[in-house]
Amino acid sequence: MDTINRITVLGSGIMGHGIAQVSAMAGYEVVIRDIQQSFLDKAMEKIKWSVNKLVEKKKIDQNEAERILNRIHPIVDIDQALKNSQLVIEAVPEDLNLKKKVYEELDRYTNEDVIFASNTSTLPISEISSFTSRPNKTIGLHFFNPPQLMQLVEIIPGKQTKQEIIDIAINFINKVGKTPILCKKDVPGFIVNRIFIPLVHEACYSLERSDVSLVELDSASKYKMYLPMGIFELADYTGLDVIHKATTEMHSRDKKVIFPHPKIQELYDKKEYGQKTGKGFYQYQGDNYERVQLTEELAKKFDPIALVSVAVNNACWLLSNNVCDKEDLEKALKLGMGLKKELFQTAEIFGIGNIINTLKDLQSKFGVFYEPDQYLLMLNK
Ligand code: 3HC
Repeated sequence: MDTINRITVLGSGIMGHGIAQVSAMAGYEVVIRDIQQSFLDKAMEKIKWSVNKLVEKKKIDQNEAERILNRIHPIVDIDQALKNSQLVIEAVPEDLNLKKKVYEELDRYTNEDVIFASNTSTLPISEISSFTSRPNKTIGLHFFNPPQLMQLVEIIPGKQTKQEIIDIAINFINKVGKTPILCKKDVPGFIVNRIFIPLVHEACYSLERSDVSLVELDSASKYKMYLPMGIFELADYTGLDVIHKATTEMHSRDKKVIFPHPKIQELYDKKEYGQKTGKGFYQYQGDNYERVQLTEELAKKFDPIALVSVAVNNACWLLSNNVCDKEDLEKALKLGMGLKKELFQTAEIFGIGNIINTLKDLQSKFGVFYEPDQYLLMLNK
């Protein structure tokens, strides 16, 4: 059934180069394709940096590092790039018009057996599938940043995706050493982004509504909410361009899913995308991996109950809408966002009753976005 041995990754940005690398690490021959050689050169530099890090940390040896790099073929020519691949993973920018063009082109250059997977973070898989002649062979494979370190891949079937393709996708993700989690409904933000993206906006509101500094709030999100990075640090790391796009797409499909804060639009307009541009919520030396100094001492200055409440409420929405079960939800948050404690355990620490009261209070002041979900209300009975 599973005859994949060569993969083409379209797009060589943060996600594309990471997906190419993890696929090559699993033994696949990989073509990485972009529209300019200079983009591919940059991607290969990043892959080399990452592979060297893994050697440094003794996760792989030097010989293996060379074999991995030799399996990755950067190619601009689309026809050449797609030749003999059985799976195409698309990781081009999150623009539906661009995706439409890309999939129409893909259709022309690939035979009908080739499977199409999109790494979209928020666009509907069924809509993307409709751009192709093979919606039954198109699926969402949503990796997390950085793909080299994050264990989760959300698998999102579109309305017409065949079971056989879901099985092949799960098998592929297992082979690349990641954990697949099935997102049973093609909802805006799938599982993790439904919690992560609104959380960034809520952090902006908390900053505005409380007498707290950026690092204090960020430290509290790290040490009291058990995120591996502060929420603003994570936003900068993910990229404000990505967050802005995800916000717009999610909000255009469901007004209740997100309560956009103007700060994200402002940073996006100023092209302050975070680490990749040297400036976002914080300033950075360059576009290399860099951490913000957050401490438990600073965390004492802020109670992140509004953040916890919004995250838990969105988690409850996923459960009451049967997008995934609680076990998969917690697994997804642990492996896709690095949560160090289960979200519902954190909810218990803050108190379900307190969370509901916080949401009701915010709802009375700021509207329906904060309305407590039925599942959450049931937890209090
Ligand atoms: N390849 C190899 N090594 C890498 C790397 C890469 N791509 N990126 C970073 N590293 C290395 C670092 O250089 C560092 O090495 P060092 O010890 O020599 O300095 C090491 O990995 C990481 O160590 P740190 O102590 O800095 O960091 P952590 O232990 O906190 O782990 C992390 C880093 C895995 C990134 C962790 O902080 C984490 O899980 N952060 C949350 C990330 C997250 O939530 N991602 C999802 C965002 S949402 C998303 O992607 C969806 C999209 O659709 C928007």
